[in-house]
Amino acid sequence: MNDLSANKILVTGGAGYIGTHTCVELIEAGHEVIVFDNLCNSKAEALLGVERITGVRPELVVADLRDLPALIETFEKHEPDAVIHFAGLKAVGESVNHPLRYFQNNVAGSINLFEAMRKANVKKLVFSSSCTVYGSPKTLPIDENAPVGNTSNPYGHTKYMIEQILRELHQCNPDWNISILRYFNPVGAHASGEIGEDPHGVPENLMPYVCQVAVGKHDRVRVWGNDYDTPDGTGVRDYLHVSDLATGHLSALNKLDSNPGLMFHNLGTGNGYSVLDVIEAFRSASGQDINYEIMPRRPGDIAAVWADTSLAEKELGWKAERGLEEMCRDAWSWQKNHLNGF
Ligand code: NAD
Ligand code: WQD
Repeated sequence: MNDLSANKILVTGGAGYIGTHTCVELIEAGHEVIVFDNLCNSKAEALLGVERITGVRPELVVADLRDLPALIETFEKHEPDAVIHFAGLKAVGESVNHPLRYFQNNVAGSINLFEAMRKANVKKLVFSSSCTVYGSPKTLPIDENAPVGNTSNPYGHTKYMIEQILRELHQCNPDWNISILRYFNPVGAHASGEIGEDPHGVPENLMPYVCQVAVGKHDRVRVWGNDYDTPDGTGVRDYLHVSDLATGHLSALNKLDSNPGLMFHNLGTGNGYSVLDVIEAFRSASGQDINYEIMPRRPGDIAAVWADTSLAEKELGWKAERGLEEMCRDAWSWQKNHLNGF
């Protein structure tokens, strides 16, 4: 599946959760990795975890996407063949309180990156988008032709805006090769337990919160609503193992080599699980009691979303391999050995 020849890949946001897992897969496939990250939501130590798994510590450029000269210098110095662009802010709640911060960091920062790529004549890009661009789905599962843009918060809107910028960029410059990956809900950790999710403060997302309940940092999971039109009334999502998600990026790079152009793919499992399914799976994988309490709905949440993954399977030759049990098992082995993260 991942048989592309060795390349030098610039990974923006490579010290973060999905970035570190993707660095592992890139290095194991024989690529050279340069990480560009301002460490605003990660630590340099995360790359030591990458080194413990792979034997290679990626070079880290500590710099900000909003600093165009730093980007230009990085391209001049390292001469990458391609870019995987993870860097960005991702907290939905924070984006509602600080929308300009999100547009500045994610949208303006991405434009700087594309400008530095243009100057350096690097035209191969994989971009981290999100199922959030679909808003509240009309039909399930969601395929890539579903309408996009009806997002309910500034974070989601930055993803939509960057997608639109990339569409235009490709239309005006068809020699750019761009893969836009719409992730569903990435969870879990590398099976080694060396790297995992290290959220700052109290996590907004379900799995890291459940992990923190399991180690006693919180007394219960607050389940946001049990009156949705779903089998048990709680929200349903397409949870996806982060290592499966990481290999999706290699498949995308591979595809850009064999079939240049602009492409959009959902990366999910195609299965929907409820909040109570996740709590039960985690209890079973960890052997820990997970107390929970039903609370009112969280504003902006949708009832259910899961992916139609057939396009990624057909065009990228990629399919998620790990199930919910493995996601919980790996999240738990990371959490119990890293009570305070990296
Ligand atoms: P993360 O916060 O762990 O990683 C993002 C990294 O980008 C961090 O290391 C952070 O320090 C860095 N960064 C942020 N702004 C930067 C800037 N201006 N300059 C340089 N570095 C900067 O997040 P993640 O979960 O690994 O997400 C990676 C990407 O995937 C993000 O673009 C996110 O929006 C997208 N995504 C994440 C999820 C999810 O649930 N985790 C789902 C869909 C899409
Ligand atoms: C999952 C389910 C909650 C926490 C978010 C972003 C999305 C994407 C992925 C980046 C929902 C419920 C949660 C808790 C709960 N990120 N829940 N108690 O909302 O599907 O997606 O992350 O692009 O853009 O919006 O993920 O993990 O927050 O919630 O009951 O303490 O768990 O209501 O049903 P979500 P999540």
